[in-house]
Amino acid sequence: MVTTRATAEDRPDRADRSDRSAVRTLLRLWPYVRPVRVRLFTAAAVAIVASCLALVIPLVLKWMVDGPVADRDPAGVWLGALYLLLLGIGEALLFGLRRWLVARPLAGVEASMRADLYRHLQRLPVAFHDRWASGQLLSRGTTDLMLLRMFLAFPLTFLLVNGVTILVGVVIMLLQDWTLGLVILIPAVPVMVTCVIFEKRYASVARRAQDQVGDLTTVVEESVLGIRIIKGFGRHRTQARAFRELSRTLRGTELHKARLLATIWGVIVTLPELAIGAALVLGAVQVADGELSAGTLVAFLSTALALRWPVDSIGFLLAMSQEAATATERYFEVMDQTPEPEAPQRGAGLGQFAAPPRGATSHEQPAPDNDGIRFHNVRFRYPDAPEDSPPTLDNIDLHIRPGESMALVGPTGSGKTTLTALIPRLHEVTSGHITLDGHDISAMDRKSLRDLVAVAFEEPTLFSASVADNVLMGAGEGAGEPELERALGVAQAAFAHDLPHGTETQVGEQGLSLSGGQRQRLALARAVVGRPRFLVLDDPLSALDVHTEAAVEAALREVLAETTALIVAHRPSTVLLADRVALLSGGRIAAVGTHHELLRTNAEYAHLMAGTEEADR
Ligand SMILES: Nc1ncnc2c1ncn2[C@@H]1O[C@H](COP(=O)(O)OP(=O)(O)OP(=O)(O)O)[C@@H](O)[C@H]1O
Ligand SMILES: [Mg+2]
Repeated sequence: MVTTRATAEDRPDRADRSDRSAVRTLLRLWPYVRPVRVRLFTAAAVAIVASCLALVIPLVLKWMVDGPVADRDPAGVWLGALYLLLLGIGEALLFGLRRWLVARPLAGVEASMRADLYRHLQRLPVAFHDRWASGQLLSRGTTDLMLLRMFLAFPLTFLLVNGVTILVGVVIMLLQDWTLGLVILIPAVPVMVTCVIFEKRYASVARRAQDQVGDLTTVVEESVLGIRIIKGFGRHRTQARAFRELSRTLRGTELHKARLLATIWGVIVTLPELAIGAALVLGAVQVADGELSAGTLVAFLSTALALRWPVDSIGFLLAMSQEAATATERYFEVMDQTPEPEAPQRGAGLGQFAAPPRGATSHEQPAPDNDGIRFHNVRFRYPDAPEDSPPTLDNIDLHIRPGESMALVGPTGSGKTTLTALIPRLHEVTSGHITLDGHDISAMDRKSLRDLVAVAFEEPTLFSASVADNVLMGAGEGAGEPELERALGVAQAAFAHDLPHGTETQVGEQGLSLSGGQRQRLALARAVVGRPRFLVLDDPLSALDVHTEAAVEAALREVLAETTALIVAHRPSTVLLADRVALLSGGRIAAVGTHHELLRTNAEYAHLMAGTEEADR
């Protein structure tokens, strides 16, 4: 699975736009930050005051050195010490207050962004989920959002706070002695140039690292879900090797990041340090010459030292901001995808007549209220299929009469699952249209469409919930015990009562594991529980033994009598449930008729059925 992964360039879940501006990207967070802006700004103001308090300390020192110390006045020295203590306590209290101010609102911001992402993922079309690796989505919802919260809590505030502190400190130093001040300022230019170069490089490496975390997550997820296959085929070594390779790549990228960080750190720390050393020598000479008071030199140097942390920290604050910009970009890459619209696309909802579809029956005569399912010249191509490939489905004209059950038969890969997915609009037709009782499904809102149509897929999926909850998902509000019992009866799923806690037993990934046939029967119960007007079953009985299959078929017959159904079938026994059969071959409907007619008149059909009949025995 890992070896066939597409290369970075053609992946939809990654983009490397090196020309993007970090600031512009980060500004997109504003709607989420807006509700907590007052607290955030207050916290920043508090931090600025706290930081500037630290800059008062050198001034007190100057006063002490030139005053009480020079005059040998112990009481004055004690007073100075008291001032220093109070300043220290004040600074600590203010920083504590800042922390308290931001912690809760920022956890709220992270939570609401995560909730938005989840809601959006639920509304994105199936085509999106087909294209995006799940690990990429997972890592965006976890690691990236955590990075964003950390950014809002720390770098965002401190880039501002440290910027102001450095500015104030430099002004203080220039006021003390402008020649020394200028000496200190010399490294500013090379430091800034380094920062700019660094920022660009770091941005692209950070993006790569975060995408690789997504890939790693995908591998972990796949191997957990596919653990049986991996073990069964003895592939754990290959899988472990694939994992090791990915994590080695990630390690390489992280080391690259560390190297970049080390370089900038080196520049940012060394240059100012050299400047301070130069200022010290120059200042000492001036003091010796009597041009400068000792107190001023002390104040000057302690101001310079107090600015060391704000200056040093700029390197990693910028790095964290870059990572946050990347995280924002990755977050909005998902959020910018267009979800399925919830409102009707064109005009009418259900219960009114849709805008007359092109060349449709409703054009010449009013659509009958009871018309069943109609495919009108439907063509479908998967959105990610190559342009020049033939469409998966083409020229599909099919009418399933009201109350009728139609079986859909075809060789594997002929497009049966694809065709069934078009009815609940899991995929949108490329051209042509589908009507239910004369209403174009593209004009219905999805909610009412999906209330009308119930589906059971080849892969029966159960969620981490009780049996009852899993089945009743298929019913409207207010459905309860009687509906559940009836559905379990139809699906021959009475085994549910014998589970440890009956129908309240937890199943799904966090609960009891059921057999394939048991899961299939619960999925079938879910499809029939809401007494849907239209029922779409994709090979619903494939995992059942012959006796259970016969029992399910007997019960299904009653359900089918009340609905209009399309059933994908492989075996003659399932086909016989249906009134008529449609043969799908090469993406087209090759023949429609009863089972016996087709057996007699269609060689391909006879061949398909003959093969399976033998297999059935
Ligand atoms: N999400 C997808 N994106 C692109 N192509 C797809 C996608 N899903 C299926 N296909 C392709 O569409 C074709 C029809 O697939 P489909 O699943 O509809 O076949 P099927 O008739 O249901 O087969 P089976 O009997 O094995 O279930 C296949 O060639 C398949 O490779
Ligand atoms: Mg299929």
